[in-house]
Amino acid sequence: MAKITFHGHACFHIDAKDGTRIVIDPFLTGNPLADVKPNDLGAVHYILLTHGHGDHLGDTIAIAKRTGATVISTFEIVSFLQEKGVSKIHPLHIGGGYNFPFGRVKMTPALHGGMIDGDTGKYTTVPGGFLVHVDGKAIYHAGDTALIADMQLLAGQVDTALLPIGDNFTMGPEDAVRAVEMIQPKVVIPMHYNTFDVIRQDPQAFARRVGSQAKVVILKPGESYEA
Ligand code: NI
Ligand code: MN
Repeated sequence: MAKITFHGHACFHIDAKDGTRIVIDPFLTGNPLADVKPNDLGAVHYILLTHGHGDHLGDTIAIAKRTGATVISTFEIVSFLQEKGVSKIHPLHIGGGYNFPFGRVKMTPALHGGMIDGDTGKYTTVPGGFLVHVDGKAIYHAGDTALIADMQLLAGQVDTALLPIGDNFTMGPEDAVRAVEMIQPKVVIPMHYNTFDVIRQDPQAFARRVGSQAKVVILKPGESYEA
């Protein structure tokens, strides 16, 4: 059983039954919804980074340096992190996967921007999402993305989908419902909403729109779901 814990915005950590801790998009410092500080995450073995925007890159460098975690992201982003002193990296790219000791991680397409942080002036190529296979479950973190037809390719392959519903910067609730139709996951956990005023959404209203197509699990920061 993989345990998925939400920390607000697009940040989750997954605990595998072998003790591996995988953190995704650790935006904690400056995240008004975060329930933990970077040091509270304890031992972290892998950090998955969907793209370089500050609300995803977040505390990646500090956590990687403190824990020795391996950062998994696109080639461009991990190269940038290496320049910043992160020693353990694993470059992937869209459509490619790799079998890590805890399971397979594949990068999926996302339609979004590719700047690193807010003030580096550096741009990268495409952002992405992740399909993470752990403890016999497939967990899809869509990253920041518009609704894209490519999501149809995930049909039937996903147990738990972490989908943005905030609108403005990513797909909003209507398009997220269409994403659920395409992906057909068993469970959907909404993310990337209510962190800032422009992405205010009602997750209950989203759940009603999804209806019987999937089980919608609304996590408050600090809450977990056993996938
Ligand atoms: Ni973004
Ligand atoms: Mn974002």
